[in-house]
Amino acid sequence: MPEKPLSIVVLVSGSGSNLQAIIDTLRDESVNAEIKAVISNKENALGLERARKAGIRDIFIDHTVFTDRLSFDQVMMHEIDKYGPDLIILAGFMRILSNEFVTHYSGKLINIHPSLLPNFKGLNTHQRALDAKHKKAGASVHFVTNELDGGPVIAQSEVAVIENDTAESLRLRVLEQEHFIYPEVTKWFAEQRIKLNDNVVYFDQQALEKPILLSKSNQV
Ligand code: GRF
Repeated sequence: MPEKPLSIVVLVSGSGSNLQAIIDTLRDESVNAEIKAVISNKENALGLERARKAGIRDIFIDHTVFTDRLSFDQVMMHEIDKYGPDLIILAGFMRILSNEFVTHYSGKLINIHPSLLPNFKGLNTHQRALDAKHKKAGASVHFVTNELDGGPVIAQSEVAVIENDTAESLRLRVLEQEHFIYPEVTKWFAEQRIKLNDNVVYFDQQALEKPILLSKSNQV
């Protein structure tokens, strides 16, 4: 008997290109996982359109009608919990989440951040990498904890910074890697290869001492 499919809910605020990469990989590689719903705090998010096109339930929850962060998060939790998700994927979700939300989904909540964490938490990561004259930039998939962009990192992908790079050219190269590593990590969850225990990431039952380094040519 095959295992029950991994039940996933994805949160987006914008373009949803990472969502698309995950949708495509789960479908093309017949991964034992199902995206049950895509939720956005932006009505016009292209990510919602991508969900509709893929036959996935799309839900808009307007954060501006709530007077405080927690009330919005409680409505989201109520909605998310209807799907009994095993994994909640933040894919360009541009809201800071309350401690209550993060704690509620502890060990099931992941994010992708466009830097080699712990470098450049927060915004404008590519410009900051250029300003700091770093030779490498990249992306990180990490568990979400109450520290912003500070949860244990599961996997990273590096790209070389090249001469004449701009924040935009770097962003595009990093995004290409994001579209590879986020679906890969999602597959590991579907295969039950990843666990979080006491703030430590386990991959195939082994505690990770450092993030798994992945790129298109280096598959685990
Ligand atoms: C990506 O750069 C991701 O790293 C960051 O937000 C962006 C989302 O892009 N968290 P998209 O909506 O998946 O196209």
